[in-house]
Order: sequence, then structure tokens, then C-alpha cells
Amino acid sequence: MQRTSINFDSFNQLHDDDCHERIRAARARLGKKAVLLCHHYQRADVYQYADLTGDSLKLSRLASQTDAEYIVFCGVHFMAEVADFMSKPEQKAILPDLGAGCSMADMANLAKVERCWRELNEVLTADESVTPVTYINSAADLKAFCGEHGGIVCTSSNAGAIAQWAFKQRDKILFFPDQHLGRWTGYTMGIPLEEMLVWDPDLELGGLPPEQIRKAKLLLWKGHCSVHQMFQPAHILKFRNQHPDGLVIAHPECSFEVCRQSDFVGSTEHIVKTIKEAAPNTRWLVGTELNLVNRLAEEVKSEGKIVQFMATTVCMCSTMQRIDPQHLAWTLENLAEGQVVNQIKVPAHEAALARLALGRMLAVS
Ligand code: 13P
Ligand code: SF4
Repeated sequence: MQRTSINFDSFNQLHDDDCHERIRAARARLGKKAVLLCHHYQRADVYQYADLTGDSLKLSRLASQTDAEYIVFCGVHFMAEVADFMSKPEQKAILPDLGAGCSMADMANLAKVERCWRELNEVLTADESVTPVTYINSAADLKAFCGEHGGIVCTSSNAGAIAQWAFKQRDKILFFPDQHLGRWTGYTMGIPLEEMLVWDPDLELGGLPPEQIRKAKLLLWKGHCSVHQMFQPAHILKFRNQHPDGLVIAHPECSFEVCRQSDFVGSTEHIVKTIKEAAPNTRWLVGTELNLVNRLAEEVKSEGKIVQFMATTVCMCSTMQRIDPQHLAWTLENLAEGQVVNQIKVPAHEAALARLALGRMLAVS
């Protein structure tokens, strides 16, 4: 007899304590059949169940190394897509809430990138060419676009090495969807700011005169992260005035000025590692998502380290936050019953090209 999946409605109102009991029971039933991957931004009540944690680069590698039948991804949609096309065909990537997207990834889509590509090719002469580089925070079809057009994927922890690779292929880069990571990467490579231009995908030719496009080294897609845009240079200034010995660390999705005024800039894994390895009794101001900062502050406080959040308002990745104990309990109970729910499946032709672009990245970094 064919079984139907358990409906989410009965889990929606479930008390957290009951959820935790059911998560533990379902995990015990699943054993090694399921592996739980959690990004650093995942909320604490879900993160506690992680088998593996990391930034996007580490998680993409881990996803290709695990043997579990079910890869339950407590992160956002593009991360589960990567887990799908980097894992073996018999493995299944699961996203406990399909609403867990990434607002930055949504700022670029295939139609707009293809239009941009066409317009660039109309403007550029035969001896000028562009490598498309997509941040891993993008849909699989954009990774496939890069695979098809000699391009590559990057993450926040390898963007410099990837940009060097891209410039070896062709003389310009089209970088999407995060202008801030693109600009910071170019700046650390010594590219003058005036050679990095913002491409507005809603305007013809990105809103740029053709002669400027020809002069540019880096074309930066007009996209950003809604969480990281909240951090401001004024937050750093206030901290430095109050704590002249304090140190500032920011994620490269922050604005250029925030990155420039920080002592360290790096991926979520880099932020965690830097502060964990720092001397005891140091004080830190951190410009990245709140769940990571709160967890880190707890973990290092016994060494006398003080970790402060950069913004004055609450900045969480509200989409990743959607993966709560209720959705995790519902997902795991279904899997334990042999019912696959919320599987993320990238179409085969797209997956092959996306794998090509991501494979180039893994070979470079
Ligand atoms: P990391 O690769 O540094 O974890 O960044 C992912 C992300 O989405 C940051 O907003
Ligand atoms: Fe996307 Fe920003 Fe959330 Fe990172 S923090 S997953 S870039 S919305």
C-alpha cells in the first residue's frame, strides 16, 4: 500500500519541547541514512542537531563527500541546490522549508544575466572579453550559465583566487549578484575603484555608457545582502571610540566602507576561526548575522573574549530562520517513514553545467 507523507499542519502548532523529542526520535530511527548540514547562520535550536557545519565553501565540499542517503540542509535554497548537484545521483538533498531562500540570490535571474551578456557582447570589440563569475549565493541556472560560458563560481572565502583565475582567462569579469563582494575582491587585488562599475540589470546597457564598459575591469551586478547592508561605518567609529584596543571583523558582503574600516574581512568560517584563535581577553566587533555572533560570543566568553554585534538593530537571515524545530521535526519524521519531502532537484542538463562551474572553483581553491 502506498503511504502518503505526513502533513505539516499538525507540526505548525507543536510546542518546541515536543518538537525536540520528535526530532531526536526520528534521528535515532534514521541513523546514518540522514546527515544534517547547518550553515553558521542557522538558529541555535536547529544548529544543535548539526552533524556538519561550515561556510558555503566548506559545506559544498562536505556535501560532495557524505555518503548519507538524505542530505538535510539547514541553510537556504541555493545551498541545498549545491548539495544536490554535487552529491551522488542516489542521494537526496532536502530543504526543511522551501521558503528558505536568499534575498541576494533572488536579485539576479537567468533572463537578466542573458540580456546583460548579449548587451556586453554588442558593446565589446573582438579583442575584449568577459569571464562570468557567480557568487555561490545564486540559483543553479546561473551557475550553469557560468559553466557554459567559460565562467566559474566563487564563495566569500575564495573570491580573490577565483578572480585571479578569471582574469587569466579573459580581460574583464562580470560578477553577480553581490556588488560588495565583487568590489572588495577587486580592491584587494589593486583594481582602482573607477575601473569597477555597477551594472544595473533593470537599465539598458546596465545604465552605463559604452566607452565606460570598455574601460572597466570589473562589472558589478547591482545586488546586495539585506542583512549585511545594515552594518554601517558609524557602528565601527563608535566602537573604536569606546574601545581603542578592540578589533573589528566583517563579512565581505558588507559595504565597501565597512570592509575598509575593519581590521579583518572574511567568510563566516574565517570570522569564527579568527576569533576562536585570538588571544584571550580581546574584544571584537563583528559584522555578520546575529545567530553566528551570539553563538560565538558564548563559545569564547570563558577565555575572557568579548564579542559584540556590529549593528544596533536585530539583523538575522530571516529566510534561514524559517527552518525551525517544527519544520525539522516534520522533515525527519517523513524521512524516517520513507517519505521524501521538500527534495531539491536541479534539472540534469543544468546540474551538469553548474557542476562544471563549481568544479572549476574547487580545482582553483
Ligand atoms: P559564507 O560563505 O561566508 O558562509 O557566506 C554565506 C552567506 O550567505 C553570507 O551571507
Ligand atoms: Fe542570503 Fe544575506 Fe541570508 Fe546570506 S545572510 S543567505 S546573503 S540573505
